Amino acid sequence: MANIVLKNICKEYSKNQPIIKDLNLEIEDGSFTVLLGASGCGKSTILRMVAGLEKETYGNIYIGDKDMKDVEPGDRNIAMVFQNYALYPTMTVRGNIEFGLKNMKVPKQEREEKIMEAVKIVGLQDFIDRKPQNLSGGQRQRVALARAIVKDPKVFLMDEPLSNLDAKLRTQIRTDLIELYQKLKTTFLYVTHDQVEAMSMATKIVLLYKGEVQQIGTPMEIYEKPKNVYTAKFIGSPPMNIIKKEKLDIAIKNIPQEAAFIGFRPEKALLEEDENCLRLDGEIITKELLGDQILYKIATDCGNINVKTFNKTAINEKRCVVFIKNEDLHFFDVNEMRIEN
Ligand SMILES: Nc1ncnc2c1ncn2[C@@H]1O[C@H](COP(=O)(O)OP(=O)(O)OP(=O)(O)O)[C@@H](O)[C@H]1O
Ligand SMILES: [Mg+2]
Repeated sequence: MANIVLKNICKEYSKNQPIIKDLNLEIEDGSFTVLLGASGCGKSTILRMVAGLEKETYGNIYIGDKDMKDVEPGDRNIAMVFQNYALYPTMTVRGNIEFGLKNMKVPKQEREEKIMEAVKIVGLQDFIDRKPQNLSGGQRQRVALARAIVKDPKVFLMDEPLSNLDAKLRTQIRTDLIELYQKLKTTFLYVTHDQVEAMSMATKIVLLYKGEVQQIGTPMEIYEKPKNVYTAKFIGSPPMNIIKKEKLDIAIKNIPQEAAFIGFRPEKALLEEDENCLRLDGEIITKELLGDQILYKIATDCGNINVKTFNKTAINEKRCVVFIKNEDLHFFDVNEMRIEN
């Protein structure tokens, strides 16, 4: 186990065009930290620098207090799992898992024990002599995980390992990864653009935008107190509704003077009258009945909003009134930064 510290990290692929500018970040020992952000924001670049596959332009990276400047990827005590599995096609499951161990000169008996333990953890005992081409995507990703596990790394680095899998398998392997993390209690550094993955697995989320940290926190901290509009709109499905205060034609109590934007989560909007609420008149545009919940898209004078209810029956009229309790409102200033209330 080890923590990871990034100090004043800057990365340029072309001169004077930094992808990452002066990044400072500590990934805590034993945490499941997820780097979350839209495509192109620099997540893989950061992970690859930690792995030593990419050189930082400036700054230092420490793994367990040791400066990694001159440490080769193979000597960093890390294991990396990629989106495309990166298995050797001609080798069996056993061969793929064993390969790294042979390189590390682990004796045969010990190799065998480690392989058997790892395939058991990922549930591949019955597939040990198969080649990757005869495995499903999910099974291939499990081989990649087993190959990482046998290395007993201080840090697991994972770059979108679930994105080639279908939705059902993604959910399943997500749960497997949480279990694996609980079992190994090692530091996990995981990259994804999918906020659901981040919310469901992370102990800490680092939300990035254009190479800069927007917010660091537990999933609930980020969900409940997003620091700015970008974060508010990145987390949640559907994301937080943001309306402009100037569009409201009614005065509501308790709105901070400096508020320019008002946010509320779709699941906090009510379609029944309640006390101490912001009230918006609307017209239902679409209705999605999802079994346990109903999603509405509703046009209001403040723009379109999403509303999620857990009622069993949907509203049939076109006109509706949306109520949001004052305590469920989030306020942001002209710079889109959160105002604590
Ligand atoms: N080898 C490279 N040479 C030049 N530019 C690169 C290189 N690798 C990445 N970039 C650029 O750096 C930026 C960050 O890329 P990176 O792959 O880290 O993003 P990402 O957040 O992982 O995105 P995605 O979610 O699409 O994988 C992008 O603008 C990308 O085009
Ligand atoms: Mg990437």
